[in-house]
Amino acid sequence: MKQILETERLFLRELSWDDREALCAILQDEETMYAYEGAFSDVMVQEWLERQLSRYEKWGFGLWAVILKGSGALIGQCGLTMQPWKGGEVLEIGYLFNRAFWHQGYALGAAKACKRYAFEILQADEVCSIVRDTNFPSKRVALRNGMRREDRWVKHYRSVDMPHDRFVVRNDGKTD
Ligand SMILES: CC(C)(COP(=O)(O)OP(=O)(O)OC[C@H]1O[C@@H](n2cnc3c(N)ncnc32)[C@H](O)[C@@H]1OP(=O)(O)O)[C@@H](O)C(=O)NCCC(=O)NCCS
Repeated sequence: MKQILETERLFLRELSWDDREALCAILQDEETMYAYEGAFSDVMVQEWLERQLSRYEKWGFGLWAVILKGSGALIGQCGLTMQPWKGGEVLEIGYLFNRAFWHQGYALGAAKACKRYAFEILQADEVCSIVRDTNFPSKRVALRNGMRREDRWVKHYRSVDMPHDRFVVRNDGKTD
């Protein structure tokens, strides 16, 4: 399996079909998927995983598996994707973690590593996180990752209008 990034406590590697069960524990949990308008069906999980695998093919990046060092458990997903925004496409850091591993700083650690990857490997001028207006834990991760709220756009997803805020950080050559 292709390892992408390492932090003090985590590895980030490409997802594979063997991760399906661990992904279901995240994507099929009603509380976790609140900002996505509820838990995913089996078909939606399949499509989600297929989308990441085709992103690796097309871009060389996508959402990656977050692995806890020591236990080797898949505790979340975090990575870089191209996302539609106001008629264009932007580079985004996304994160979704298993609820059992929330509030321990793992999402922030993984998001910071993705920011480094965006600036140092992809040489991006800026990277963002796009967050539903009501998703405060996700906004806190974006702010702690050095981003500032820049603009808002209403996304239409699963037949619902969802205002989203875009948090942005620019590449000033100094990543922490
Ligand atoms: C968004 C999400 C990943 C945030 O997870 P999280 O656990 O709150 O974020 P972190 O792992 O960075 O943990 C931060 C919290 O851990 C605390 N913490 C504990 N130990 C820590 C440590 N060693 N380092 C940093 N923070 C630590 C922080 O103080 C912070 O507390 P707070 O929640 O009271 O502000 C999580 O809520 C999630 O998976 N949500 C569902 C999917 C989703 O909506 N994704 C975002 C779509 S835009």
